Amino acid sequence: MLFDFARMSARDCYKLLIATITPRPIAWVVSRNSKGQLNAAPFSFFNAFSGDPPVVGIGIGSHEPGRPKDTRRNISETREFVVNLVSEAAAMAMNITAIDFEPGVNELAQAQLETLPSIHVKPPRIAVSPVSMECALLQIVELGPENALVLGRVLAMHVRDNLILDPARHLIDTPNLKLIGRMHGTGWYARTSDLFQMDRIPRADWPLREGITAGSET
Ligand SMILES: Cc1cc2nc3c(=O)[nH]c(=O)nc-3n(C[C@H](O)[C@H](O)[C@H](O)COP(=O)(O)O)c2cc1C
Repeated sequence: MLFDFARMSARDCYKLLIATITPRPIAWVVSRNSKGQLNAAPFSFFNAFSGDPPVVGIGIGSHEPGRPKDTRRNISETREFVVNLVSEAAAMAMNITAIDFEPGVNELAQAQLETLPSIHVKPPRIAVSPVSMECALLQIVELGPENALVLGRVLAMHVRDNLILDPARHLIDTPNLKLIGRMHGTGWYARTSDLFQMDRIPRADWPLREGITAGSET
């Protein structure tokens, strides 16, 4: 079936995007407004976009027309934020911080989340998160009247000590981060525990040896 986005409502386009582009990693963003009030909220329109410079991007909408989500307003005011990644253990706390609280409500307090200080930016990081990235605003790309892509340069990454396999080689125990991803619909999530490995194919090895084809099972 063809879905022609030009003929569809914004709501229906959104439904198709989130039902298909899965799983999506979750940025659990801590920001501060110009008065110093803290805010936390999850965003799954999120990914890394460049290693050099190290850049992450987050798509942040509005609560209602003309009222950008507090995270976007805070970041445009103070130009700093922390992206925390979400492990299975923190799923419920993350969900609490997504409640549509009034501006000025500290979701970290509502979810009883402990924080740890950041080094380069004022917003703190979430202690329960295995990975936190301190970010400086690079650019806000306005995508439409109610949505924007917030690009942040990663200034530093904190990784919990017991999740580092080899500090000298910057090797992380990724499976043990036990991160969750957002799936379809309103409440579906994925664990990252069902893994398989597939090495890149050097040019010299293509075509593959007899018996291994593009259709082979992994
Ligand atoms: C797992 C999850 C992912 C979400 N992803 C997004 C997103 O990518 N963009 C967005 O605008 N809202 C997203 N939301 C909704 C926001 O978290 C929610 O509107 C929140 O109240 C915004 O908080 P704020 O106004 O304090 O920034 C998501 C919610 C959940 C639970």
